Amino acid sequence: MALWGGRFSEAGDQFFLKFNQSLSFDYKLFKSEIVASTAYAKELAKAGILNADEEARIVAALEGLGQKFNHDDMMTAIERGVEDVHSLVESELVKMVGDLGRKLHSGRSRNEQVATDLRIFLKEEIFNLKEAVTSLERQVIQQAEANLDAIMPGYTHLQRAQPIRWAHYLFSWIEGFERDKERLDDLMKRVDVMPLGSGAISGNVWGLDRERLRADLGFGAITRNSLDATSDRDFVVETMFCCSSVMLRLSRLAEDLILYTAKEFGFIELGDKVATGSSLMPQKKNPDSLELIRGKTGRVVGNLTALMMTVKGLPSCYNKDLQEDKEGLFDSLKQTLDCIQVMELVFGNMTPKPEVMLAACYQGYLNATELADYLVIKKLPFRHAHELVGKMVVFAIQQGKKLEDLSLAEFQSFFPDVENDVYTYLDVQKCVDRKTAVGGTAKSQVLAQLARYKKVLS
Ligand code: ARG
Repeated sequence: MALWGGRFSEAGDQFFLKFNQSLSFDYKLFKSEIVASTAYAKELAKAGILNADEEARIVAALEGLGQKFNHDDMMTAIERGVEDVHSLVESELVKMVGDLGRKLHSGRSRNEQVATDLRIFLKEEIFNLKEAVTSLERQVIQQAEANLDAIMPGYTHLQRAQPIRWAHYLFSWIEGFERDKERLDDLMKRVDVMPLGSGAISGNVWGLDRERLRADLGFGAITRNSLDATSDRDFVVETMFCCSSVMLRLSRLAEDLILYTAKEFGFIELGDKVATGSSLMPQKKNPDSLELIRGKTGRVVGNLTALMMTVKGLPSCYNKDLQEDKEGLFDSLKQTLDCIQVMELVFGNMTPKPEVMLAACYQGYLNATELADYLVIKKLPFRHAHELVGKMVVFAIQQGKKLEDLSLAEFQSFFPDVENDVYTYLDVQKCVDRKTAVGGTAKSQVLAQLARYKKVLS
């Protein structure tokens, strides 16, 4: 049963009807539709459109439908060609309570229904995303805490730059995940707004008390303009951006970890639970878990771009193009949630190799900046110190030595004020622990951040 047809004399083309339907994907909004319809029925009763008995019958039928309608029923409905989840609930209601069910749509439009259902649905999804990110963060922090004294090379341009704590490196991702969660909180403010009572475009004729409806549905606020209420999809675009932001982070993290598992780095070993083998090369252990996270990021960002292109150039108010918001949204939410969970699994199934990390810190002159800082203590302006240390590095490379292997006389041939204490400055461990300003990689700072995260995440 379609929700329209009075002005039509010919049935729709079968191929077109299939093209037009959305039940095959908007069935995900089934529960939200039941919740919203129930609240609407109660409000219609208060407006005098339904009497108390009719209200009770509709509410009971909707509740029953919500409980008994199962996956098989849904598949059959899709096959039967039911247009969308809104038509489905109404037609099932009519099956249960007869003509009375046809009263539910009084003053209501699918344009406001779909906007309302999406928002109800998203409120739960956003909550789940946040929970998943927090759970991942806890796992990452556990990895950091287990190896607080591990020191690794920090990279810029993928070239060894300066030694840092492994924990400090891991915490850099926590900072980003915390921002992602803030973004989700902020998004929630705009999702938690109720459009119901807006009609198709111009408002509700029955003078519904939308504030009461809002309270009943547990929304934080109501929309203030019926045109905007029925056609705004900013909140969907924003949700997909939030998913993209999480995914971009996961993707970069995955890329790092893929590199770190490669023999060329060897900083971590991936557990069997999150790796796969090669069908041909028996020795292989591949980081498929991480590669898929990186791979799915393209798809999630693509979904965001697709919806922005759909919205661009739409005339105001509802247009059927907006039906295209859902498949990408549902996909982005699922992929993002899955990827967060897989990343958590990876962190629960990896073994860091602090000895390999530390050994790498001794190759590549990672303490050169420290030497320049030392010369600054000896009153040389930093720019000159930088230049001079550059020359010392070239000299050391020619000698096949590390900076700390140069003799005092060799140092003094570059700068006479160098003393024996230079060697303590060149020590990798000391380089790290001198970065004591807030946000630095010194142990004191890393411990402070650890304590802060534990508090924030508890
Ligand atoms: N299935 C539609 C969607 O997802 C529901 C709204 C349809 N409204 C309409 N007037 N055709 O956007």
